[in-house]
Amino acid sequence: MLNIVILAAGQGKRMQSSRPKVLHTIAGCTMLSHVLKAARALEAKGVVVVVGHGAEQVEQAFVAQTDLKFALQQPQLGTGHAVLQAAPHLRENGQDDVTLVLYGDVPLVEVATLRALLTARQKGLAVLTELLPDPTGYGRIVRNAQGHVCAIVEHKDATPAQRAITEVNTGIIAAPTAQLKTWLSQLTNQNAQAEYYLTDIIGMAVAQGLAVNVAHPGAAYETLGVNSRAQQAQLERLWQLELARRQLEAGVTIADPARLELRGTLQCGQDVFIDVGCVFEGKVSLGDGVHVGAHCVLRDVSIGAGTRIEPFSHLDQATVGSDAKIGPYARLRPGAELADRTHVGNFVEIKNARLGSDSKANHLAYIGDAEIGARVNIGAGTITCNYDGVNKHRTVIEDDVFIGSDSQLVAPVRVGRGATLGAGTTLTRDAPADTLTISRTKQITIEGWKRPIKKIKKA
Ligand code: UD1
Ligand code: CA
Repeated sequence: MLNIVILAAGQGKRMQSSRPKVLHTIAGCTMLSHVLKAARALEAKGVVVVVGHGAEQVEQAFVAQTDLKFALQQPQLGTGHAVLQAAPHLRENGQDDVTLVLYGDVPLVEVATLRALLTARQKGLAVLTELLPDPTGYGRIVRNAQGHVCAIVEHKDATPAQRAITEVNTGIIAAPTAQLKTWLSQLTNQNAQAEYYLTDIIGMAVAQGLAVNVAHPGAAYETLGVNSRAQQAQLERLWQLELARRQLEAGVTIADPARLELRGTLQCGQDVFIDVGCVFEGKVSLGDGVHVGAHCVLRDVSIGAGTRIEPFSHLDQATVGSDAKIGPYARLRPGAELADRTHVGNFVEIKNARLGSDSKANHLAYIGDAEIGARVNIGAGTITCNYDGVNKHRTVIEDDVFIGSDSQLVAPVRVGRGATLGAGTTLTRDAPADTLTISRTKQITIEGWKRPIKKIKKA
């Protein structure tokens, strides 16, 4: 039975933040949620998060995950003391019980690496270790003459000879649950930091004749911890490059992998092109042959095959059909549903509205709370007046309508199939099908009118 303990009680003082460290994000998700995702993938029977600094805030952020257990560590007396607080929650059924310790501020460890660690453990203990050219600050992996791991010595407690060891403890450890509980209760804090070190269980296991094996991470980003904004930014860059690499591998053309931001999941069809400076958030799916121009932001959107999103467009919770043309400078807000072959041009904002196939709004328009049919042409400057200051109302525009430029449709209002609105119309009542409706003061010309002349002031 697998239990997972995630250490997240530390303060993260160097973040200089009012938010607990593990609630800071990498790729748009909190560090703790990254770790939890890995824990979920391992199908642990129990997941315990050890909280301390900002405990309430951390628990609040994950209230929806009702199966999570939180153990409060107050005060923070070391990693061993932290795991000890979780011990009462660790479940056992005698069969191959194992507890895996993860860090909430080491967010990107891969599931495959953790599986390798659990396999390496066999019946004993396993430590995820790494060879670092500069091991300063880390716990060192001490091996005996036979090359077997016999202890972990913290940097501050290490002798000069031990400090020369370049194999370090990443902090991620798997241990048999029953023994772990016993060892934790036997820890002391007689060391340079007067802390209860989790790492002291290594020596205890060895003294009992248990094997201590190691496994290694597959990539550098997996074991990088975040203690400062600088480290957070560094890890973000490494991770973004990795995410871009995965997209390239899947066949996406990315103009510059160093200028792509993925903060969610991006699902791409074949032959998708993404220009520089685009940000993808939430769940985004791009169909075959989609082209995303420079500096677009797409959040929770789905784009059909062959559609082009031109530069500087902002799409949020919208769906677009195939072979459409969006932007440049288009804004699709939540509930915008654009059918196939639609065109939405510069400075057009669409919110909670459906635009039927082959319909166009090419310049400067606001379409909110509207139902627009097929083959409709919305002229420049058209506005659906959906809000009366209190309530929102719908505008319905049926198929094959032509809305002249600079028209206002005061909702609730309906434009019948095939109707035309003359430019500058303020529509306050329904426009019948197949007719021309126009509301405009008659044009007059005043003959003999003279322009005023500027008076010149005397000095
Ligand atoms: C720890 C390891 C060290 C390893 C290093 C890797 C010990 C004694 N040392 O050192 O061998 O090389 O990590 O980064 O385990 N935490 C708590 N409660 C506490 C103390 C820490 O929850 O009382 C949490 C922190 O929030 C953090 C993690 O445990 O997520 C590690 O704590 P940190 O202080 O960074 O450990 P190090 O001393 O760096
Ligand atoms: Ca650390």
